[in-house]
Amino acid sequence: MREVTATVLENIRIAEDTYSLTFACGEEIPVRAGQFCMVGVHGYPLRRPIAVCKAEGERITVCYRLKGGGTRTLAGSYKAGEKLSVLLPLGNGFSVKEEEKRVAVVGGGAGVFPLIAAIRRYAPEKELFAYMGFRNRASVCMEYEMRRGKKLVLCTDDGSVGYKGSSVQAFMEDIGEVKPSVVLACGPLPMLRALKSAAGGRLPVYVSLEERMGCGVGACLVCVCNKTDGAHARVCKDGPVFEIGEVEL
Ligand SMILES: Cc1cc2nc3c(=O)[nH]c(=O)nc-3n(C[C@H](O)[C@H](O)[C@H](O)COP(=O)(O)OP(=O)(O)OC[C@H]3O[C@@H](n4cnc5c(N)ncnc54)[C@H](O)[C@@H]3O)c2cc1C
Ligand code: FES
Repeated sequence: MREVTATVLENIRIAEDTYSLTFACGEEIPVRAGQFCMVGVHGYPLRRPIAVCKAEGERITVCYRLKGGGTRTLAGSYKAGEKLSVLLPLGNGFSVKEEEKRVAVVGGGAGVFPLIAAIRRYAPEKELFAYMGFRNRASVCMEYEMRRGKKLVLCTDDGSVGYKGSSVQAFMEDIGEVKPSVVLACGPLPMLRALKSAAGGRLPVYVSLEERMGCGVGACLVCVCNKTDGAHARVCKDGPVFEIGEVEL
């Protein structure tokens, strides 16, 4: 893990309430798909966790949805050339085994962003099927990145683009045909719960959790989640990726 003073290269709106931020770290930093960074924002003592979408040499791209003050300040005040304090790479990331040849990714909301890194990583060497959920047409973004696999099903709550319904519903309708060896997922808790009850236990399902965080490096315990065996785990350090049966949702 490094702390870098990065330079903003681009910070642009790519869909409704959604921004893409690319920064240069000044050195190449290896990042695994599913790892995240903690981004410092002026006026906020705690950095904000954001998944890495793309890592290309010293250039890192993250995408973020506007939520509260931190993400709004990030969108409004960081133009190209500004300095940004970032900790990275953090967390364990996704890992797909050699023998797992058919990979399904199921994402919803801001959960599509870490999955874009997984699509970029695994689409060249696996049969990859993506089910990505958005609120409506205006919030769809990064479609060219999500199309790298064998199949993409875009889902919207209102049916304005693609499948009308959740990405979990669309995935479960296809599961018999796709026969995935492993599922990678990220999204809001109700979505992950639906996935757990529909597919958990039938095949390996790895979820990336989005808990509120303080330090991002395992020291403050703000992000602790309950495990199904009664133990606890720090989402930032032991995760954010867990096998779905391992954690209480
Ligand atoms: C490992 C990890 C990776 C993430 N990756 C992304 C990403 O790629 N893109 C993206 O848009 N967001 C991502 N998030 C969520 C992002 O960190 C929060 O949206 C952000 O910190 C909100 O900060 P804020 O100051 O704008 O809002 P705040 O004022 O802090 O909060 C506004 C609202 O958002 C809720 N909230 C805050 N943090 C989280 C959180 N971590 N999860 C769920 N709800 C939260 C609060 O409860 C509150 O209701 C990730 C979170 C984690 C833990
Ligand atoms: S955020 Fe501090 S321990 Fe996880």
